[in-house]
Amino acid sequence: MEILGIDIGGSGIKGAIVETKTGEMLTKRLRIPTPQPATPEAIAETIKQIADSFGYKKSIGCGFPALMNHGVIKTASNIDPSCKDVDANKLFSEITGRIVHVFNDADVAGFAEAKFGLAGKKKGLSLFLTIGTGIGSALINNGKLIENTEFGHIYMQNGLKTEHYASDAVRERENLDWPVWGARLNEVLIYLESLFSPDAFILGGGASKKFELFQDQLHTKAPIQPAELLNKAGIVGAALLAKKRS
Ligand code: BGC
Repeated sequence: MEILGIDIGGSGIKGAIVETKTGEMLTKRLRIPTPQPATPEAIAETIKQIADSFGYKKSIGCGFPALMNHGVIKTASNIDPSCKDVDANKLFSEITGRIVHVFNDADVAGFAEAKFGLAGKKKGLSLFLTIGTGIGSALINNGKLIENTEFGHIYMQNGLKTEHYASDAVRERENLDWPVWGARLNEVLIYLESLFSPDAFILGGGASKKFELFQDQLHTKAPIQPAELLNKAGIVGAALLAKKRS
């Protein structure tokens, strides 16, 4: 089945039509800068623009950087506060004139990894983290996604949320070099390991593209691997989850 997958991020909104059987992108990846302010209405107009530019009229899957509850945006940690409590499924469908299913960005990326990347080939529990402006998470148990985890908001013993200590944005803001930041990430992973005992960690998001610069700092018992699908994961996973809801 061919479905338009959209990945909504803080700086760009990206989309492509995906063949859900193979996870292959059938079109080029179109990127439009995220409108500012990124109100839900402005985001929906951008989704419409992407769908229109592909001449696409059917249902759409979106990954969104917030806790989602059945299509309703429940938090706004790194996004415009006007998004909170908006029924995104409803609003985006009304504005685009297509049925839109909205999911958490880390859940869609983790789901794509489970289906077409490393996580799916692993037996047992994989813990997927996407490390960017915030830290998003997904748990994949024997290839099945457990939705709505928010491991970026777990408090560390130093009193900080994991995403306020070791996100890629924190690395940039505090001008941390890779080994120093890698040691922070290691603390986060060891803490998560003590809570969830995953069989493997999969790291996605911007920072995972530089894995070789900090991997020496990571010392969990479970193996750690960078995500395989990289910037395709958000688009492909959104299309896959939308297919499940159609
Ligand atoms: C949000 C998550 C999201 C993550 C990555 C966090 O601040 O709470 O829902 O997955 O950022 O975008």
